[in-house]
Amino acid sequence: MPYATIGVIGGTGLYHMEGMTDVEEIAVSTPFGDPSDVITIGKVDGVAMAFLPRHGRGHRISPSELPVRANIWALKSLGVEWVISVSAVGSLREEIAPRDLIIPDQLFDRTKSRVNSFFEQGIVAHCSFAEPFCPDLSKLLLKTAQEVDDVKVHAGGTYVCMEGPLFSTKAESNIYRKLGCDLIGMTALPEAKLAREAELCYSIIACATDYDCWHESAEAVTVEMVVANLSANVANAQRILRSVAQKLSASEHQHTCNCGSALHNAIMTDPSKISADVK
Ligand code: ADE
Repeated sequence: MPYATIGVIGGTGLYHMEGMTDVEEIAVSTPFGDPSDVITIGKVDGVAMAFLPRHGRGHRISPSELPVRANIWALKSLGVEWVISVSAVGSLREEIAPRDLIIPDQLFDRTKSRVNSFFEQGIVAHCSFAEPFCPDLSKLLLKTAQEVDDVKVHAGGTYVCMEGPLFSTKAESNIYRKLGCDLIGMTALPEAKLAREAELCYSIIACATDYDCWHESAEAVTVEMVVANLSANVANAQRILRSVAQKLSASEHQHTCNCGSALHNAIMTDPSKISADVK
């Protein structure tokens, strides 16, 4: 089985990695069903990378229906340690303009009907999630984005994850602003939670495509707006990914975070009480 330690989950508008060579498509099957699509493993400037289009090629899967457990499981099974998500978001702040990039540092969960844990059926585990993104990977993404020409990047911010698929009402958008949220999207959860339970480093390059619907003078978000602004963003995200891959592959790069031991002391169930069919 091919192997890559860097995994990219491409959101709306990012369905393949530009310039990937030695490409192999792998259909991974998992105990949670099939991932969103085949996973492409190849080399980007000589560095092995696994790529998964979150919504499937052709954008077939709605945010609420994403097979997130299968996606995370599949990436982990291919040897991935770092997962970089590229996601379109709406901006809830004047200073975050459409086409800016953000490396968020917090999450606020407004999803309603998604399975958000690998642990069930007699296994109880509680992982720390106070810092929902890998601090090490986020720092690297930010530093790299700051080095790339013509990219405006914002350090940190609270991403509110809504259920969708409809966009927010004005009342909701304004309430999220009052609550201190900075960005809004539909896909960071349960992805970030499941990546933590899988002991993976996970961070987001968020691409602002619109001002949602709170802004007095900007038109309320539409799909056309998201797609138009995203093409510019995706080109920048690809440049950042190439450069981050070089840094992560450098032999001196070591994990300085605790993501890889997130399950340490998290499982409460007495191992002798776990039945063989669950194990
Ligand atoms: N993705 C891109 N823009 C969005 C918005 N305004 N709300 C939710 N998800 C989005």
